[in-house]
Amino acid sequence: EKGGYEHFMLKEIHEQPNAISDTYRGRMLADKGIIRMAGVDDNMERIANAKRIIIVACGTSWHAGLVAEYIFEDIARIPVEVEYASEFRYRNPVITENDVVIAISQSGETADTMAAIKLAKEKGAFAFGVCNVVGSSISRETHAGAYTHAGPEIGVASTKAFTTQITVLTLMALKLGKFKGTISQSDFQFHLQEMERIPEKVKEALKSDKLIQEVAFKYKDAPNCLYLGRGYNFPVALEGALKLKEISYIHAEGYPAAEMKHGPIALIDEQMPVVVIATKKGHYEKVVSNIQEIKSRKGKIIAVVTKGDEEVRELADYVIEVPETIESLTPLLTTIPLQLLSYHIAVMLGKNVDQPRNLAKSVTVE
Ligand code: F6R
Repeated sequence: EKGGYEHFMLKEIHEQPNAISDTYRGRMLADKGIIRMAGVDDNMERIANAKRIIIVACGTSWHAGLVAEYIFEDIARIPVEVEYASEFRYRNPVITENDVVIAISQSGETADTMAAIKLAKEKGAFAFGVCNVVGSSISRETHAGAYTHAGPEIGVASTKAFTTQITVLTLMALKLGKFKGTISQSDFQFHLQEMERIPEKVKEALKSDKLIQEVAFKYKDAPNCLYLGRGYNFPVALEGALKLKEISYIHAEGYPAAEMKHGPIALIDEQMPVVVIATKKGHYEKVVSNIQEIKSRKGKIIAVVTKGDEEVRELADYVIEVPETIESLTPLLTTIPLQLLSYHIAVMLGKNVDQPRNLAKSVTVE
């Protein structure tokens, strides 16, 4: 059942090339420049004319929502707010009939996300679900939706659900952008072509496994770890930190790289590993100067870079390469080494990676 892998989590990490292509297959016709998504097509006016999109989710799904915020605003030019479902539902939020509320949930059963959707519907908003489990409560409660086709996710730590959520939301943003005319035809076409190349590139990213085991061995006994990223890769830093704390019980925090100097830099000394996502597209030079600041305080730098990078290699203790792609799709690649890093650290520490203490796969109570 684990397909030869030692744990479900590792199997699911390796399933991502297929999970991503299963999610776009049948929806995206790259050569024809078409994206078909029934849940969006049938409600195009309503969604494209939204004054605002509010994304509600928890945990890893909330991180996918943060990536989607960048994509929707960039490509479809619709203002987006991303909310923890648990906070949103209890603070008398301003919701109108012109809002579209998107719930993201692997299980489709998360109590807080479900309650947030019910509240949004009561206020007249249009509710759209991005769920993995077919027929789940959230998928039934929403007006329309688009499933991720990740297949069953058994490991408690979410991996392939995250990358397929980003895939679905990217397609949705592209579709809205095309309809609204906020993305050019050639840019649209280019995004589809790049999306089609992602599964191969994920496979390539997975090949860093041996190197990542080395990194894991080196830092497995660190009591703390910092993750930094910017732009599209800021949510990836949050997700990397969440994965590490969930399964290895090492305290980890994710930060937007530029926030480092507003506090977390005080934590940096020769004991502190800092994982920095420093891919070429998007604020590269600024992230490089953050890396220099970490280095001058003797922090240990594990950098995730674009293949062929030389500048960061000079500064970092370890460099993990991912293939190049367009900026908005980099999270699908930069997430991979961070999943593997947390996996290997947890295994080396003898933790139960598939069923970490105190956690449940679906959180059906608030
Ligand atoms: C993280 C994790 C949790 C879930 C969260 C939401 O690895 O598994 O943070 O992402 O409980 O669950 P869903 O997506 O089922 O609503």
